[in-house]
Amino acid sequence: MNHENNDSLQKELSPFIENCKSIGFVPTMGALHKGHLSLVEQAVKENDCVVVSIFVNPTQFNKAQDLEKYPRTLDNDIALLKSVKGNVFVYSPQASELYNKNIASKSYNFFGIENEMEGKHRPGHFDGVGTVLDIFFRIVKPNKAYFGEKDFQQLQIVKKLVEIEKLPVEIIGCPIVRETSGLAMSSRNKRLTKKELIEAILINKTLISVQQKFNHLSISEINKFVENEFRKNNSLTLEYFEIADVATLKTAKSKKENTTYRAFIASFIAGVRLIDNIALN
Ligand code: PAJ
Repeated sequence: MNHENNDSLQKELSPFIENCKSIGFVPTMGALHKGHLSLVEQAVKENDCVVVSIFVNPTQFNKAQDLEKYPRTLDNDIALLKSVKGNVFVYSPQASELYNKNIASKSYNFFGIENEMEGKHRPGHFDGVGTVLDIFFRIVKPNKAYFGEKDFQQLQIVKKLVEIEKLPVEIIGCPIVRETSGLAMSSRNKRLTKKELIEAILINKTLISVQQKFNHLSISEINKFVENEFRKNNSLTLEYFEIADVATLKTAKSKKENTTYRAFIASFIAGVRLIDNIALN
């Protein structure tokens, strides 16, 4: 089920390709949880076979320490994927196979989306994401690829990437899977204590309040509300809160008609960076 190199993966996929079967693709960095599995389950429903890549991509980390601390749980991930019924194949390559000798990003212009929010706070991050996904799409050649709305900006970037590179793959966005507490599932949650996991609920709680306030408060009033919620809290630090137009991801200063908005938060707790977002209208 697990393929550590491209040759082995291609042998597995060749009967599907020869018989014009559809290939679904779910790229991940491992440390899998129910959020990842929801993507795999949707991909299984919509395709004849599904490739799940597990690769902690060095070029998308702008902090060496974050890369080093990223959880790596391959055996457990494979066991979890075995519990999904269907033709699910794991691809867990080494960096040398994907990048040859040059572990570096290409430089992309994603029509400005790359300069907002995550792009502003994690320089080079989306160049790294674009570079590795371009390589993966050319290896796996999927018909459809699945991405979580948890990383909404990434989802929009990937749609631009396939447009720019003219890749014949349909990009499908999937809803955010949450703990019963409302906290968005994330591999990074594994680095938090029980107490911190409870404190981190503030992120989703604040986003829900923003959703409720969106129709009757101005954007600057909502911004003040959010800043205040985080100021009152000693454990979480707000890195950014933004209400943005989903098409451009540019910060909204006022509400415009015929525009779809989402609210986005990035926050630190105990040195762990968490992100979340919610639809507003
Ligand atoms: P990773 O963080 O492992 O996430 C893999 C996929 O799972 C992404 O599409 C992400 O949005 C989705 N996901 C994570 N948590 C989720 C949740 N709670 N609900 C729904 N979907 C969720 O994103 C990456 O890896 C990398 O940047 C990658 C695309 C693999 C490129 O290296």
